[in-house]
Amino acid sequence: MITGDANNNVTDHIFEKIGHNLHKRPDHPLGIIKSVIEDYFDESFGKDTFTSFDDLYPVVTTFANFDSVLVPPDHVSRSANDTYYVDAENVLRCHTSAHQLEMLKDGATKFLVTGDVYRRDSIDATHFPVFHQMEGVRVFEKEEWESKGVEAVDLARDELRTTLEGLARHLFGDVEMRWVDAYFPFTEPSMELEIFFKGEWLEVLGCGVMEMQILEEAGLGDKRAWAFGLGLERLAMVLFDVPDIRLFWSDDKRFTKQFEAGMFKAGGVDMRKFKPYSKYPPCLKDVSFWLPENAEDGTNLFSENNLCEVVRDAAGSLVEEVKLIDEFENKKKGLTSNCFRIVYRSMERSLTDEEINAIQEKVRENMVSKLGVELR
Ligand code: DAH
Repeated sequence: MITGDANNNVTDHIFEKIGHNLHKRPDHPLGIIKSVIEDYFDESFGKDTFTSFDDLYPVVTTFANFDSVLVPPDHVSRSANDTYYVDAENVLRCHTSAHQLEMLKDGATKFLVTGDVYRRDSIDATHFPVFHQMEGVRVFEKEEWESKGVEAVDLARDELRTTLEGLARHLFGDVEMRWVDAYFPFTEPSMELEIFFKGEWLEVLGCGVMEMQILEEAGLGDKRAWAFGLGLERLAMVLFDVPDIRLFWSDDKRFTKQFEAGMFKAGGVDMRKFKPYSKYPPCLKDVSFWLPENAEDGTNLFSENNLCEVVRDAAGSLVEEVKLIDEFENKKKGLTSNCFRIVYRSMERSLTDEEINAIQEKVRENMVSKLGVELR
């Protein structure tokens, strides 16, 4: 199923991605970044103080994914337009925060959880519906803040900041950083760390002091904790100069052979970067259509995320980008027209006209039958 059905909207293309465990391959850029971060925690807190988990199953309950981390009942991330539902009660986790509560209940107090996360999203060089996150949590005991004579929140926030600034230097070298206030349902205060890298402010991670309600739920109401979450692809793309997120999924030796465990150097200084091999030519297809009218309850089968799912279902990872290039309203008809450009390109070979025409035809058919649009 492709459209907004909360009973199962996981396509084959997405289902196939489960179990690849790119983050567990020592010579893969994602595995390399993961172990560089784990090394940092070993160096800063003492070896094995933080326990690493990297094989928690990505199918979790809606309770774990949303409720356990206090995501409000009406939050958009709960919609079947944004999240992959296996059935009404189970989803492909959309963040590693889904494991916070169960890990705390299991007695873990300092831990890192790395895993694949899934989100229905638009398509371009930096967005893929499967990516990898690392979550970090550290619980404080009462004695820790009492012995220092400080407030628990202040202790947690200050250690969080120093720890993550240190992590940013470990990854990016001597860079300029800034903290930006943020909102997450599971932390208060919440913030994001940005670093100035190659001429741009880049968001590196989100974090904060864990909401007491989560600790209480875990039976740890007399403690305090900090938590953070970061995306591994984002870091690997800027640190190794990887231009397209789909490359992480490639088995092409020209990609895989360029990475090995231990190659990483902070900030990429004196480190071998990814050398792009010649790109194959893209194949562009435009599709123009009238949007369907809203149903009585105001919903519409068409959304950019649903269109992207239709394209992915037909093209797999041969699709590089889907972008809106024109939109206008026909007042007389009372309808809106959209034109999307679909860019097809393989990371591994040249595409033939025949195969792209066949894919495009399937996309057009499914746009009509699954999304209710009228092709122009
Ligand atoms: N779960 C957040 C996301 O996917 C990332 C995050 C932010 C995790 C703040 C945290 C946190 O643990 O404290 O965008």
